[in-house]
Amino acid sequence: MPRNVVSNAELAMRVDTSDEWIVERTGIRQRYIAGEGETTGSLAIEAARAALADAGIEGRSIDLIVLATATPDNTFPATATKVQHALGCNGGMAFDVAAVCSGFLYALATADSMLRTGMARRAVVIGAETFSRILDWEDRTTCVLFGDGAGAIVLEATEVADDGPGVLATQLHADGAQHDLLYVDGGPSTTQTVGHVRMKGREVFRHAVVNLAEVLGEVIDGAGLSVADIDWVVPHQANARILDATSRKLGISPDKVIYTVDRHANTSAASVPLAFDVARKDGRIKQGDLVMFEAMGGGFTWGASLVRM
Ligand code: ACO
Repeated sequence: MPRNVVSNAELAMRVDTSDEWIVERTGIRQRYIAGEGETTGSLAIEAARAALADAGIEGRSIDLIVLATATPDNTFPATATKVQHALGCNGGMAFDVAAVCSGFLYALATADSMLRTGMARRAVVIGAETFSRILDWEDRTTCVLFGDGAGAIVLEATEVADDGPGVLATQLHADGAQHDLLYVDGGPSTTQTVGHVRMKGREVFRHAVVNLAEVLGEVIDGAGLSVADIDWVVPHQANARILDATSRKLGISPDKVIYTVDRHANTSAASVPLAFDVARKDGRIKQGDLVMFEAMGGGFTWGASLVRM
């Protein structure tokens, strides 16, 4: 996480909002905002180093880096190549994936597929964002919702038993017809500016609950399991009400859903690995558990992935 924490009360000094409104509509109490010298790349490097240390693996043995972000350091090269250099990797591949809030799910599926086909042996998958840099800080309907951060995991290709660790099933979707509900009004090929996030929140909310419930059902059915088999759901942290509505629709107990939106806000592609990290460190997610990752974001894009720890 970046060093700076910004509370709802502090935001209320900048725009016409209140702690009460933000907590009631979203569950968000604070967010981390990148300061001087902190970028998507620098946060991603810290997250990747922490994940490698946790896995007991050296950076130079990594041959694939997939970094999900909608807020890269530069238009090119990919921020993943900065991470590759900082980790001291010996060659291999490094690229970014742009699927906004679903980016981590898309990056995980990409790395998993490449490991399965033998294109790579050890991957670092990162979700990293500095959304604060593309927010319109005068638009109270969006600026209160997002925060900055980065999370990472390490994946390795190994032979495992049927009930061993790994990605068991994944479903990804996109629907470009919904572009105008959530987008950035700038970019190198259109306005030559970075642009700001624009969103029709109420419609996004409605689509999010329907799409997420559907894709979770698809993955559970596809794996031949039932909702009761899932130990933990690690959702994209957009809004506590979306998390509640989705789990209610599927009949998943709220006790099995990891909530970090209160402290991180919506960190887009970083939110799933950040929430996962919190639940691993506090001992809730353990080896052998069946964990569902899920996310939805601009595009729209959405997806879910079932992983055995
Ligand atoms: N503070 C105070 N008042 C506000 C604020 C604010 N920050 N923002 C909006 N309002 C006002 C509106 O102007 C409106 O006032 P009006 O009734 O006088 O016109 C009123 O609050 C209600 O606005 P709505 O937009 O209808 O509020 P809603 O209950 O839908 O909540 C929210 C808005 C929180 C954005 C909700 O729609 C939402 O969470 N949508 C999902 C969006 C999302 O999570 N996007 C993230 C990216 S996509 C993803 O990650 C899934």
